[in-house]
Amino acid sequence: MAGEAAVVLLAAGSGSRLGAGRPKALVPVAGRPLVVHSLRTIARSGLFSEVVLVVPPGAAGREVALLARTLLDGLPAPVPVLRVTEGGNRRRDSVRRGLAACPRASHVLVHDAARPLAGPELFRRILEAAARHGAAVPLVPVADALVREEDGFAAEDVARGSLRAVQTPQGFRRDLLLRAHDAADPSWDAPDDGALVRRFGAPVAGVPGERTNLKVTWPEDLLLAGRLLGGGEAMETRVGFGWDVHRMVEGRPLVLAGVTVDPDVGPLGHSDGDPLSHAIVDALLGAAALGDIGTHFPDDDQAFAGAPGPELLVRTRRILEGAGWAPWQVDAVLVLDRPKLAPFRERIREALARVLRLPAGRVSLKAKRTEGLGSLAGGRGIACHAVAQVRRTEGRG
Ligand code: CTP
Ligand code: MG
Repeated sequence: MAGEAAVVLLAAGSGSRLGAGRPKALVPVAGRPLVVHSLRTIARSGLFSEVVLVVPPGAAGREVALLARTLLDGLPAPVPVLRVTEGGNRRRDSVRRGLAACPRASHVLVHDAARPLAGPELFRRILEAAARHGAAVPLVPVADALVREEDGFAAEDVARGSLRAVQTPQGFRRDLLLRAHDAADPSWDAPDDGALVRRFGAPVAGVPGERTNLKVTWPEDLLLAGRLLGGGEAMETRVGFGWDVHRMVEGRPLVLAGVTVDPDVGPLGHSDGDPLSHAIVDALLGAAALGDIGTHFPDDDQAFAGAPGPELLVRTRRILEGAGWAPWQVDAVLVLDRPKLAPFRERIREALARVLRLPAGRVSLKAKRTEGLGSLAGGRGIACHAVAQVRRTEGRG
């Protein structure tokens, strides 16, 4: 094959049939956002020089892009160059935008993020067949008998002998796919790219697909895909430890995980000085061996000056997710002489649970006084110790 190959990874759909209340690409499967699974397979295959991620508009698109960057940053080099572009109204519009974003590629594979189980061998087969034939799609035989339904009756038999279900990834010479797109009737909502190329008049080779390469479309597909991706392997868990300390001063509020505990006396610090959030961030990062708070949120970076604890926790959760980990459990001890923490404890636990996406039952918070023996600035300090457990979110770590 002359030239380099790109993947256009389609993640711009809304997932209306799934009905999860957010774009399908972000819906967790086996503990990780759907889009992450195929992106990981693509990145680790070593077959592609670039990936064009086609994302939904707005905040969801930014979230998908951030997940993708974090995932790729966490993989050993070489990883494909990541390009991100916003999708269009129909699938074919999203593909067309993706094609525009990889002008240098000689060949392009178009893959639905909705198919998290497509394996590296399928990508390889499709790329080879596309290099040989100009266009190739994965086909699988249909196991069920087929009929046409009319008014609630199984009305007419359809011979299934030569019928095939068509999957993605589908592979093409880029110039051929581009011409097929641009020549097609603009009003045609083409089902896939193989159909566009056939309508254009070029042959499309069939390559054996994978029976496990299911497309997450309806809610029950999530369960199936989750089982297949989870693989039944033993869950890998790790623990991490974090610690933080701040001096308390007049005129600053004490805010723990977004909950104001004392409006008048609070920690001095670069960000909001929330030792609870900071210790938990370090515990989580430590569990996944991903550095520490300073690695990800340097205190000379204005972007994080005053950053509230919950924001750092959300960012940390996403860093973990990108690397294949999810928070599982957190336990913290705050060391402070005053004020009393008890009235705020449940609200703080709930706030932590919310940002870490954990049930409150896996978030614990205790408080201890120094009993005059500590060195916490004569009672004007606050410290926090935290442990966190994280779990692998996919079996193939
Ligand atoms: N897709 C896209 N842009 C669109 C529509 C779909 O990038 N305008 C992508 C989806 O993100 C998905 C793939 O095309 O990865 C296949 O589409 P489908 O499974 O139909 O996903 P959705 O369109 O999101 O789901 P639904 O049709 O249920 O709304
Ligand atoms: Mg759709």
